[in-house]
Amino acid sequence: MQCLDDFRLSFKGRDFLPLMVGGMGTNISTANLVLAIEKLGGMAHLSDAMLPDVADREIGTHFTKEKTIRFKSMIEEADKTEEKFNLEALSRVSKQYFSDVMEKATGKGLVLVNCMEKLTMNDPIATLKARLNAALDAGVDGITMSAGLHLSSLKLMQDNPRFNDALFGLVVSSARALNLFLKRTAFIGRKLDYVVVEGPLAGGHLGFGEDWRNFKLEDIVKDVVKLVKDTGLNVPVLGAGGIFSGKEAVDLMKKTGASGIQAATRFTIAQESGLPDPVKQVYIDAKDEDVEVNHASPTGYLMRMLKNSPALTANNRPNCESYGYMLSHGSCPYLKEWLENSSEKTKCCLCTNMRNYKVWTCGTSVSRLKTTTVRGQDGKWVLPTAEQIFNDYRLA
Ligand SMILES: Cc1cc2nc3c(=O)[nH]c(=O)nc-3n(C[C@H](O)[C@H](O)[C@H](O)COP(=O)(O)O)c2cc1C
Repeated sequence: MQCLDDFRLSFKGRDFLPLMVGGMGTNISTANLVLAIEKLGGMAHLSDAMLPDVADREIGTHFTKEKTIRFKSMIEEADKTEEKFNLEALSRVSKQYFSDVMEKATGKGLVLVNCMEKLTMNDPIATLKARLNAALDAGVDGITMSAGLHLSSLKLMQDNPRFNDALFGLVVSSARALNLFLKRTAFIGRKLDYVVVEGPLAGGHLGFGEDWRNFKLEDIVKDVVKLVKDTGLNVPVLGAGGIFSGKEAVDLMKKTGASGIQAATRFTIAQESGLPDPVKQVYIDAKDEDVEVNHASPTGYLMRMLKNSPALTANNRPNCESYGYMLSHGSCPYLKEWLENSSEKTKCCLCTNMRNYKVWTCGTSVSRLKTTTVRGQDGKWVLPTAEQIFNDYRLA
């Protein structure tokens, strides 16, 4: 029987295990987690969700403090249109953070950045341009464009000296979305290097509506593989969402023609993951019935999370002056509900709660974590290292 280690994925003449560790924001796929995988010759994503705030905490920058001071007089204002991100500071801090990670990379694997288009940051195009180019300037190996259609992202990077040397991937949940991206970006003349197909069982935000149960990863991957062939794109397609083992990865690849997989949920409980250790214990204890797909995210996308995520019952005062990553035209669906003082809030304050690890997002396979984890003598689950999880995918 074949294992994942019998397969390789090639990028620019280098071969890799066909497993990407998916980006997990906010700071769940930490630099330590990504570097542990990179050291093994693997491919892993940092997430750029709320990156300046992550940089403040990890490398001592002062982005959030400066933003708070600049806008604190506007706390009572309902219209936050003026609360723009300082683009120069956004670029500088992002570059500093990514450069710090790249200095520690061994060069054996790939450090990729997952860039969420849906972080609108009250000025979507300008902030996206700053984020994407800062990552390239810092020397990251590639950028995976996620959570959005990214119709302008390539154009925003086309003047960067690394435009042709970095890897670019796109996350889609349908062949239709990929087709639209290819048609609308054809004039740029820069091909994608890989496509990740995220199915309905993934963690984080979902690219599906209420009918997500009607879709199967396998079918979507088949459609995307066909489209990639038919359009002459001919790049690797990776499947994501609910793939818990190397064996399941190989099965998917054989059935669909995918060249590899992306996985995240299994790595949430790695020692190097940013989730607090007690929360990792909650993840491992989770059962199927503890997971829900809900509308709590102000992005408008459905999100999968544990039902007992503290964010769902928190009544946070919006903190747009400090964060404001969800603002669009000066508002955010959570801010609106807060201002209306609605007793039944449907949204949560994603910024405050993501950075405080109170949104316990996960894929459906969270309930299987206990099957690959053992309890210590104190009754607590023993947290695996990222290397152990990576090797389990590789060989088991
Ligand atoms: C805790 C967690 C956080 C995530 N955060 C992000 C994110 O910030 N951006 C993104 O595009 N995808 C995010 N995802 C999705 C993953 O990158 C990945 O594609 C997906 O979860 C793979 O499925 P699996 O978790 O079943 O292995 C997240 C997933 C998890 C579990």
